[in-house]
Amino acid sequence: MSIIVMSGCATGIGAATRKVLEAAGHQIVGIDIRDAEVIADLSTAEGRKQAIADVLAKCSKGMDGLVLCAGLGPQTKVLGNVVSVNYFGATELMDAFLPELKQGHQPAVVVISSVASAHLAFDKNPLAPALEAGEEAKARAIVEQAGEQGGNLAYSGSKNALTVAVRKRAAAWGEAGVRLNTIAPGATDTPLLQAGLQDPRYGESIAKFVPPMGRRAEPSEMASVIAFLMSPAASYVHGAQIVIDGGIDAAMRPTQF
Ligand SMILES: NC(=O)c1ccc[n+]([C@@H]2O[C@H](COP(=O)([O-])OP(=O)(O)OC[C@H]3O[C@@H](n4cnc5c(N)ncnc54)[C@H](O)[C@@H]3O)[C@@H](O)[C@H]2O)c1
Repeated sequence: MSIIVMSGCATGIGAATRKVLEAAGHQIVGIDIRDAEVIADLSTAEGRKQAIADVLAKCSKGMDGLVLCAGLGPQTKVLGNVVSVNYFGATELMDAFLPELKQGHQPAVVVISSVASAHLAFDKNPLAPALEAGEEAKARAIVEQAGEQGGNLAYSGSKNALTVAVRKRAAAWGEAGVRLNTIAPGATDTPLLQAGLQDPRYGESIAKFVPPMGRRAEPSEMASVIAFLMSPAASYVHGAQIVIDGGIDAAMRPTQF
């Protein structure tokens, strides 16, 4: 049995992943705003500090894996929280847990990004400089002052920078023996997606975002790929972003490669 720390395990993709990993015999230490071993708010620096301290206290026997699912969608009322949870809620946790992961058994990390991470280029991402510099207040201010498209910028900008943050760590983490990958889900039936569909600003475009497979994904279809990436079966997969989107990225931009 190995110990896997997970954020965002209360609902959606995280809850489905928790189920699969537990069925495979792993012990989960979950972090969420509710229904988890560690209750913490990842939208604030204090909440993240508390989450890290509480997890380390619970993981005295070590840590073998980390799955970072916590995230907020573009319809979120306080847009700064999208940036804080999606970017800092993932990067600060993974960096804080690296020393424990290095000591783990066949350690692996999966970070949940999004197909939206490819909706803008990193060198044109208006949030990237502030996020990379750790300037949370500045990044929050950019999205809160962005007007109509603030939600899309907060979501795709934070996920784009998150995927790049993982790619930038691939060299050092590989040398440290810790595999690190992202997945990029397309539209998946979860509370986050339902909230987006009900939002008058984003509902129509999300509803139109139908992939070639002709349906949205079930959370279990993300969980099975995450479980694979966490397993020794993926022993040479490192620094990759696995797109799980029913073919929509290939269909929308086939030559952007
Ligand atoms: N559903 C989709 O279509 C879709 C597509 C691409 C990427 N994603 C990503 O998948 C991940 C999981 O999302 P989901 O769709 O399962 O949605 P969800 O809302 O069901 O799950 C998000 C989880 O994050 C937790 N969370 C939210 N704010 C938090 C905070 N401040 N502190 C601690 N925990 C917090 C929630 O309680 C919940 O358990 C997210 O990172 C999301 O961006 C989802």
